[in-house]
Amino acid sequence: MARLVVVSNRVGVPDGAARAGGLEVAIRPALRRRGGVWFGWSGRATDNDPGPPKTVERDNVAYVTIGLRKDDYEEFYNGFANRVLWPILHYRLDLAEFTRRDLGGYIRVNEFFASNLEKVLTPDDVVWVHDYHLIPLAKALRERGHKNKIGFFIHIPFPPPEIITALPNHERLIPALGHYDLVGFQTETDANNFSRYLANECGLKRIDGDSFAFDGRTVRIGVFPVGVETEALARLARRAIESSFVRGVLGSLAGRAMIIGVDRLDYSKGIPERMNAFNRFLTIFPEWQGNVTYLQITPRSRTGIPEYNDLGRLVGEAVGRINGALGEASWTPVRYINKAHSRTALAGLYRAARAGLVTPLRDGMNLVAKEYVAAQNADDPGVLILSRFAGAARECTAALLVNPYDPEGVAIAINRALSMSQDERRQRHAAIFKVLAQNDLSRWAERFLAALEYPQAGRTAPFAARAAGQR
Ligand code: F6P
Repeated sequence: MARLVVVSNRVGVPDGAARAGGLEVAIRPALRRRGGVWFGWSGRATDNDPGPPKTVERDNVAYVTIGLRKDDYEEFYNGFANRVLWPILHYRLDLAEFTRRDLGGYIRVNEFFASNLEKVLTPDDVVWVHDYHLIPLAKALRERGHKNKIGFFIHIPFPPPEIITALPNHERLIPALGHYDLVGFQTETDANNFSRYLANECGLKRIDGDSFAFDGRTVRIGVFPVGVETEALARLARRAIESSFVRGVLGSLAGRAMIIGVDRLDYSKGIPERMNAFNRFLTIFPEWQGNVTYLQITPRSRTGIPEYNDLGRLVGEAVGRINGALGEASWTPVRYINKAHSRTALAGLYRAARAGLVTPLRDGMNLVAKEYVAAQNADDPGVLILSRFAGAARECTAALLVNPYDPEGVAIAINRALSMSQDERRQRHAAIFKVLAQNDLSRWAERFLAALEYPQAGRTAPFAARAAGQR
C-alpha cells in the first residue's frame, strides 16, 4: 500500500489534548495504517524567516509543520483565503475584499508549501490535499515534476459559476484544480457547480459523467459527504449526560426546556438571523416565555479579520436586546457563551437539549447537526432544526428543514420542535440516525482514497458516492 501524505493548512500534531477535530479523527487511522506524513502550517507567524520545517514522529506518522512570515500569513490566511475565498465560496460576494497583493501572497505560500513538501515526497506517495487554502498546490507540485496521484477535498461549499466568476482572476486560480487526479466535494450540488465551471468557463471536454480531460491527463470529480463517529458519539453522550457538568447545567434550568446552538463565530453560521428568529418565536408564542432557555455556544475565530470582530459585536448586542426586552429577574432567554467546550461536554449538552438549532446561511456540511442527532436518546430524542442551505440537509431529510432568511418560518419550526409528539420525534430521529450510521466518519477517508487510487473500481454513476445516502 502506498504511503499517504496529507496536506492541510492546520495539522493535528498530537499534543495530548483531549479534543480531536473531525479531520484528525477521520484521517489519522489511515495515516497510521499506511504510514505517512501530515504536512502543513505550524500555526506560527514570525517577523523573520520561519526557518526549516519541524517534524514530530508518532505511531508511524511524521507530522511536518512550517512557520510563515507575518506578511505571508496576513496575505495568505487573513487575506486571500479568509477575506476572498471564504466569503465567495459561501455565496457572500458582498463581503469579499479582493486585492492583487493578497492573491500574490496566497500563490506564494502555496509555492512555499510545495517547495518544502517535495523535500519529504517520494514518487510512490499518494497525496491528499485539504481545503480552500491549497487550491494551487497540485499545480505547484506538477510544475516541479511530481507525477504522484494527488487528490483534493474541499470542506466548504463550491458555488455555481455565476458566483465564482465574480472572483477577480478566477481564471488564474480555479482551473488549477484540474491538476488534481480527483477533486472531492461534500454534496452533489457542489460537484455539479464545479463540473459546470470546467465545461462552461474552461471549455474542458467531458470524458464521461464525472471526468474531464485536462492538460493531457484526466481529472475526476466525486462526492464524499463528511460524517461523524455516529455510534461512538451516541455512547459518549450516554455517559456525558450523567456528568456533574451537564447535571449542573440542567439544574440551573429549573425544569425549563433547552434549545442549543453551537457554532464558530462566523457570518456563514447565521447567528444574528437566528437570534432574530428566536426573538420572533418568543413573541409569536408567548406561552414559551419563561419556559425555554436558548444556549448558544460560540467560540471566537479568525480574530485578525474585521468582519469577524464586527459580527462579535452584532451578536452580543442582539443577545443583550432579547434578554433586556423579554428576560425576567428569574429567567434569561438566551445564554451566550464564547468559551470552547470539550467534545464530552458538548455531547452531554446535545443530549440534554430538546431542540438543536443549526441554521447556517450556507455551510459545506455542518457536523454539529449530525453530532446533535447522534447524541440523542433514541427513546426520547430532541428535534433537529436545520437550514436547507447546510450540506447536512441532503442526508438529514427528516430534520425540520428551514430557510434561515425567514425568521417567522424558523420561529414556527422551533414551536413545532418543542411541541412535537414523542412518536414523531422517535421516527424522525431513527430515520436520520440510520443514514448517519451508514456514513460513519471512519469510512469517509477510505472511500476517498479508494476513489483516488482505484478509479475504475465501484464506479456506477456520475459522482459515484451518490450511494452515500444523499438526496
Ligand atoms: O473547512 C472549514 C475550516 O477550515 C475547518 O477545517 C476549521 O475547523 C474551520 O474552518 C476553522 O478554520 P481556521 O480556524 O483554521 O480558520
